[in-house]
Amino acid sequence: MSVELGSAAEHQRAGVASEGRAGPADAEAEDSSAEVLLAADKLHVSFPSGRGQRVTAVEDVSFTVAAGETLGIVGESGCGKTTVARCLAGLLRPDSGTVSLRGATLGARRTRQEHRAVQLVFQDPYSSLNPRLSVRSVLRELLVANGLAEGERLERRCRELMSLVGLPAGALDGYPSSFSGGQRQRIAIARALAVQPQLIVADEPISALDVSVQAAVLALFTGLRDELGIGIVLISHNLAAVRQVCDRVAVMYLGRVVEIGRRDEIFDDPRHPYTKALLAAAPRLRDGRQGPAARLKGEPPSPAARPGGCPFHPRCPRAEPVCTDVLPPLLPAPAGSDRLAACHFREERS
Ligand SMILES: Nc1ncnc2c1ncn2[C@@H]1O[C@H](COP(=O)(O)OP(=O)(O)O)[C@@H](O)[C@H]1O
Ligand code: SF4
Ligand SMILES: [Mg+2]
Repeated sequence: MSVELGSAAEHQRAGVASEGRAGPADAEAEDSSAEVLLAADKLHVSFPSGRGQRVTAVEDVSFTVAAGETLGIVGESGCGKTTVARCLAGLLRPDSGTVSLRGATLGARRTRQEHRAVQLVFQDPYSSLNPRLSVRSVLRELLVANGLAEGERLERRCRELMSLVGLPAGALDGYPSSFSGGQRQRIAIARALAVQPQLIVADEPISALDVSVQAAVLALFTGLRDELGIGIVLISHNLAAVRQVCDRVAVMYLGRVVEIGRRDEIFDDPRHPYTKALLAAAPRLRDGRQGPAARLKGEPPSPAARPGGCPFHPRCPRAEPVCTDVLPPLLPAPAGSDRLAACHFREERS
């Protein structure tokens, strides 16, 4: 299905007209694509683990997303990706650390406008759509509740949203059960767009979809980023997908960001042994090259039994004695670069 983005400008105008505040269409935002849209700063999240103990799921996680940029977050299951996503969307309050939008820290209790600004799209769109409501009812309800459209404008806006996500206007009459997985994900994205977000956090948005429709949904995200200038955080274990659509990539391991940088730096010149191992496990991404020594050993350890020193050391093929004692900070690799890696040997190329 083709991606129709013809009404993107209209979407933007609608956002500004209804709000009178900085949004994706804000002239300033368009002038500077490198402007920091969202910043996560030193996020720390722990969960109760019984007997009065807490287990740390996310530790010292910081990153930024610019307007019109897609940041990918990758890492094995359980490394804290969804926990970070929930913090960004305001569904989970971190123990410490902040999330800010265009320089303004979002409070513990977000205002309605702050909630609208960061929208989450889930892996399984079916579970997040009310089966008893038609697409039109869902969208109308949202638009009215947020004071974004009324009267005749409501139907026009619903049609615009369908067009933005590449669905025919007739889809407005449908109910979630009548759509395919890919179409449902488009509807979930339309619902997120209805409230004119500045950033969409997509948590494994294609992993429940047929391979045949994954590329089209990814292309939709890319189109929205380019046409609307919104920021996107794409969480995915699919490295090929991340390489295809992301401008920058953060690699997480055991609750920490272990490497972050521009897409090509991460894929072509990874500096953290964990990144190298992830890429080695997907050899086609690296022109067929595969370093057997870099293959990942064993299962990721549980956050409840976090190793001392570098958390990756029990599985790391490059580990040396220093690694068992000293936690490597996230530092430029190479020196002076804006790519960061948390490894004592981050200057070494693969
Ligand atoms: N609500 C929760 N209560 C207790 N532990 C949780 C909760 N949510 C996540 N965790 C734990 O936090 C860690 C990170 O989980 P998660 O963010 O879902 O990882 P990912 O999305 O990368 O698979 C895991 O060890 C998980 O078991
Ligand atoms: S600091 Fe040591 S254990 Fe950690 S990733 Fe680097 S080489 Fe491996
Ligand atoms: Mg997850």
